[in-house]
Amino acid sequence: MKLRNKTVVVTGAASGIGAEVARLARFEGATVIGMDRNAPGLTLDRFIAVDLSSTASIDAAIAALPQRVDALCNIAGVPGTANPTLLAQVNYLGLRYLTTGVLTRLPAGGAIVNIASILGADWPQRLDLHKQLAATEGFAAGQAWLDQHPVPDDSCYQYFKEALIVWTYVQSQKWFLERSVRMNSVAPGPVFTPILGDFVSMLGQERVQRDAGRMKRPAYADEVASVVTFLCSDDARWISGVNLPVDGGLASTFI
Ligand SMILES: NC(=O)c1ccc[n+]([C@@H]2O[C@H](COP(=O)([O-])OP(=O)(O)OC[C@H]3O[C@@H](n4cnc5c(N)ncnc54)[C@H](O)[C@@H]3O)[C@@H](O)[C@H]2O)c1
Repeated sequence: MKLRNKTVVVTGAASGIGAEVARLARFEGATVIGMDRNAPGLTLDRFIAVDLSSTASIDAAIAALPQRVDALCNIAGVPGTANPTLLAQVNYLGLRYLTTGVLTRLPAGGAIVNIASILGADWPQRLDLHKQLAATEGFAAGQAWLDQHPVPDDSCYQYFKEALIVWTYVQSQKWFLERSVRMNSVAPGPVFTPILGDFVSMLGQERVQRDAGRMKRPAYADEVASVVTFLCSDDARWISGVNLPVDGGLASTFI
């Protein structure tokens, strides 16, 4: 029961990794508030409908939260087959806007966990761009910067996962020093969820076959969820500013 007496907010709770995190966090004693654009099919303590591409919807969702939230798990996301503008909004701008809005409700000892991806592993190649985007404050300013620095459609999923890892790195220590709130990201390899097929379409058969030869299998969502709930717990109280691969060793084969 390592999350007893904690209130945990989980975005993307209606499906895949988010649903597994919500289920496991409840099992570990947390009060779980799920957020998603779709209604969940699992037991939650509370559900708040939100569209993470809309600041108005995010504002309303934040207003509906209790004054104290111990952990925020940013798990909702769309795959690379989605509209690129929507992808930027849901996977990065909306995630960041929600997190900043929830921050004042997180007490000292609070935790934020962002779901990145193994497909964000090339962030060092575009570090300057990602730092510039990370330095923009708010949804509109981020969108304006992106309008000035367009992202190629065919790599926008990778780009915004890279950007999320860099934002986690550059922002986490400020919040840890000022507020004792930890922020980390988790970078799964392929996971058996409803969007796994979208990754095959996005990456193409050649890349998928190459990766398949380097790993045992895709992960099950519970194998990622247990790492997310660990990072929410006090057991991880000295872990902050980390991007943790949960990929069965796949990333280690990239060197
Ligand atoms: N499945 C994989 O192989 C894999 C690998 C690495 C990273 N990821 C990441 O894991 C996270 C979870 O993905 P998943 O595989 O569980 O997919 P999923 O499709 O099963 O779950 C994603 C959830 O996000 C919600 N969502 C999408 N757009 C939203 C919006 N505008 N507002 C609110 N909610 C919205 C969906 O309704 C859904 O419930 C994503 O960030 C994804 O990029 C997935």
